Amino acid sequence: MKIRAGYVQLRPKFGKVKENIEKVKALLEPHEIHLVVLPELFTTGYAFLSREELEKYAEPLPGPTVEELCEFARRKNMYIAGGIAERDGDRIYNSSFLLGPNGYMGKYRKIHLFYEEKEIFDPGDLGFPVFETPDFKAGLLICFDWLFPEAARTIALKGAHIILHSANLVLPFCQDAMITRSIENRIFIITANRVGEEKRGDKEYAFTGMSQIVAPGGRLVLRDSPRREGAGFAKINLKEAEDKHITPENHIFEDRRREFYEL
Ligand code: ACM
Repeated sequence: MKIRAGYVQLRPKFGKVKENIEKVKALLEPHEIHLVVLPELFTTGYAFLSREELEKYAEPLPGPTVEELCEFARRKNMYIAGGIAERDGDRIYNSSFLLGPNGYMGKYRKIHLFYEEKEIFDPGDLGFPVFETPDFKAGLLICFDWLFPEAARTIALKGAHIILHSANLVLPFCQDAMITRSIENRIFIITANRVGEEKRGDKEYAFTGMSQIVAPGGRLVLRDSPRREGAGFAKINLKEAEDKHITPENHIFEDRRREFYEL
């Protein structure tokens, strides 16, 4: 249950899908990492001008990006989670995938769309799946999902050891909020954020970096800089996420008083 896990903090070039994938592979190649998280929309960039423009870049999931990364993951004996724009018929989702040494494992479609994403993406419709490997169980979240404690809670209640959080963060709150999500759920959370600015048409975004690994109980294992591009990783013991006691007499799930929660 002890694995080397981490993230790639990336500055994608808008629309340069091949180049962005090659950059990720180059950043990972020198390292032995068992599990890595890539940012939201890491192949394309973020600031789409319209639904029509997004349609040109959206791809099936699984599709070409997953295929290419599966080969890499097989060779490197690695699990990879990351975000892409997914086309499914006439729908387009802000999605993420999990794949591993044995191939594609599954996907998540962003449930909580942020700001102008609502104008170009369809809202996710697959709930919060948890995927099982021989070593761990993992759930996927995408960026703005951080604001909704129900999302992390649902994944934790399904038994995940770790949340793989692909992000393109622009608000300044998430990195600290994820420490709280980890305390509430006694779960690992890896947030892979992007860096840099994107200015296209009347859209302008500045991304906050500070990708991080948080351990159960809110222990900050690693936090990156706001601007550096690169891979960050640490050895973590996923077994830590299995004990849901915060004192010998307090179990964070069993102590809930659901009869009083008005939701
Ligand atoms: C975000 O959800 N990309 C801020």
